[in-house]
Amino acid sequence: MYIRTIDWKGNGIKIIDQTKLPAKLQYLQIRDLSVLWKAIKELKVRGAPALGAAAALGMYLGIKDERAADFPSFYRKLRRVAVYIGSSRPTARNLFWGIERMSAAAVSNKDRPIPLIKKILFKEAMEIIEEDRRSCRDIGHYGAKLIHDKDTILTICNAGILATIDYGTALAAIYRAEETGKKLKVCACETRPLLQGARLTAWELSRKGIDVTLICDSMAATLMRQGKIDKVIAGADRIAANGDTANKIGTYNLAVLSRFHKIPFFIAAPASTFDLSLKAGKQIPIEERGAAEITALFFKRPIAAKGVKVYNPAFDVTPNNLITAIITDRGIIKPPYLKNIKKMIKAAPKP
Ligand code: MRU
Repeated sequence: MYIRTIDWKGNGIKIIDQTKLPAKLQYLQIRDLSVLWKAIKELKVRGAPALGAAAALGMYLGIKDERAADFPSFYRKLRRVAVYIGSSRPTARNLFWGIERMSAAAVSNKDRPIPLIKKILFKEAMEIIEEDRRSCRDIGHYGAKLIHDKDTILTICNAGILATIDYGTALAAIYRAEETGKKLKVCACETRPLLQGARLTAWELSRKGIDVTLICDSMAATLMRQGKIDKVIAGADRIAANGDTANKIGTYNLAVLSRFHKIPFFIAAPASTFDLSLKAGKQIPIEERGAAEITALFFKRPIAAKGVKVYNPAFDVTPNNLITAIITDRGIIKPPYLKNIKKMIKAAPKP
């Protein structure tokens, strides 16, 4: 069955509530901006490209009933919506990219009547959604070329359908390879603390009929030493100009382990995840989340001593020298990243 993570339906944003998975596939209709903000914060909608779409639709949701008499007051309201959405989660570049695309669309149509600008903004948000669908398929196309028949691929978090509109980034490479007749096995890291691997990736891949085995994050090294992993493919939340890549916490561990065991380590992401304004990964803002996600969230009763100090960064940064190649919607980028990212992402417009 076809599933779509996010869409515009019935005068609001329709998302899959990912916190309900895998127990139920439940949709949520969002007609209020503060509900969207909370849905993003609580990871009901999550994954960098899906956040880009959520931000774009959110920009439209936030101004669609605005009665501003002129463009400056309309734009002031749009900026307030932008700042509000941008305050939900800091790391995924796509969220800000979606906001910026919508702001730019408004500015470049500023001489038109406000009702028309609103229509243009709606069209822009829907175009962002369609672009994501195409980008993910392009990532799948390029990524599948790196995968051999009978490979076992290790992945972390969820960089699949649920993190995008309907196809994925890291998982797109796997879906495309399977579509072209390769038989693969996937190992999904459970992804502590929010278990996106266990709850989402294992669910999504099983539904697609892909041979998936769930492991605890701490088991990756052993599997690698046993020769059971051929490749690692992870998604990305933000990629700096030099290729340093922020992704779900634990991705860096896998990159270090891959280097030690001589296993190729790939990142898969669309051009909209690159942030060429940042020279290196240490400039990427890393979200810190609440202690309860580690001490209590998925347990019947708290598992840690009451009041224990907790550090819960949601992402880490993998240095570029541990990344074999970055699979993008424009092609595969290999080192030296500074030069090649500029060439592929900045200089060349999307075909
Ligand atoms: O905290 P999350 O679940 O939003 O984190 C998501 C990830 O880390 C994904 O790997 C990343 O956004 C890429 S999704 C195609």
